[in-house]
Amino acid sequence: MPNTILVTGGAGYIGSHTVVALIEAGYQPLVLDNFCNSSVEVFQRIEEITGYSVPYIEGDVCDRGDLDAVFHEYDIKAAIHFAGLKAVGESVAEPLRYYRTNVFGSLNLLEAMAAAGVQRFVFSSSATVYGDPDSNPIQEHFPRRAMNPYGQTKLAVEKMLEDLSASDPAWRLACLRYFNPVGAHPSGLIGEDPQGIPNNLMPFIAQVAVGRREYLSVFGGDYPTRDGTGVRDYIHVMDLAEGHVAALKHLEGQAGLLTANLGTGEGVSVLEMLSAFEEACGKRLAHEIVARRPGDVPEYYGDPSLAEAVLGWRATRGVAQMCEDVWRWQSGNPEGYR
Ligand code: NAD
Ligand code: WQD
Repeated sequence: MPNTILVTGGAGYIGSHTVVALIEAGYQPLVLDNFCNSSVEVFQRIEEITGYSVPYIEGDVCDRGDLDAVFHEYDIKAAIHFAGLKAVGESVAEPLRYYRTNVFGSLNLLEAMAAAGVQRFVFSSSATVYGDPDSNPIQEHFPRRAMNPYGQTKLAVEKMLEDLSASDPAWRLACLRYFNPVGAHPSGLIGEDPQGIPNNLMPFIAQVAVGRREYLSVFGGDYPTRDGTGVRDYIHVMDLAEGHVAALKHLEGQAGLLTANLGTGEGVSVLEMLSAFEEACGKRLAHEIVARRPGDVPEYYGDPSLAEAVLGWRATRGVAQMCEDVWRWQSGNPEGYR
């Protein structure tokens, strides 16, 4: 099929929503995932949403044989590379596993692509590469200061892409720096399904709302922010998914490397997010202000104007919709895909 897009990690949270956006835009996604942090159930749900049965392969981006087999069997036009590990604390405890999956996995994929003559690549980077910024909103040229092994792995791949682009300008590369992805597909059929205790704010709030957790610990109430709690740039996962489609379209007309923030440009505090969620689910949610979480940055939000200028993309969904969509997903699937 001529419009086949390889989506590594396509069964995961952001990947699955991007698969839906790709189908809606007329592309044919092909997923490669090892399901270490996802479930095959997601394909059933994607079919319910789109009417399209997505082909998928159980494989590992660290296994060159798996990758070569995919490029041999399918006529792949581009790859969107979501496959990776993303838990900051875990990356501190198990750095080698993170470097292997995130850095070696990306290198292995790029080598397999080079061998197959496929030179279009969209990479999941993260605003985590900016560390604690000197000011907000963050622009793409701000210094990169990864603060933990996870961030270092994203930075390493960013540098690899810069060197690759300099060596051969025929590559068409997009490096997308996500701010804080939240939300779910409006159908309530797919969403974020963390294993164990959620590390991130939105899934934690959602599990409190559905009764899986007793209360939210708010990490720090004494930051120099408007209400003392941490401020982030939360972006709806469907906006993010559409950003990937826009990046893919951009690469159809333009070689070289594009590095762009994908955020909304708006900072939202923990307490603001909590009250928006209370509004969406129609109940008060227990919470307690506790000590700051080590390694947390007080405040960061992105300047999304480059993505708007170059990709013609901008986030359109606000905090209320993010919370409503998460609540629809979480209340309809209290235990996620299980
Ligand atoms: P996720 O864990 O839901 O999805 C990642 C997917 O990759 C999972 O389905 C997992 O099974 C798969 N995978 C992991 N290792 C693999 C391997 N070796 N081979 C094949 N598949 C493998 O995470 P997500 O939130 O959807 O994140 C997707 C990407 O976006 C990651 O690279 C992540 O670092 C990046 N990112 C995420 C966030 C966030 O807050 N969610 C923010 C910025 C960047
Ligand atoms: C948001 C705010 C917390 C949980 C992390 C990674 C980053 C990126 C996205 C991939 C902060 C507060 C949280 C809780 C809380 N991932 N919080 N109670 O830390 O901005 O980013 O995920 O690239 O690399 O570091 O997101 O959702 O964990 O936290 O008070 O139970 O919510 O302190 O202010 P973060 P988060």
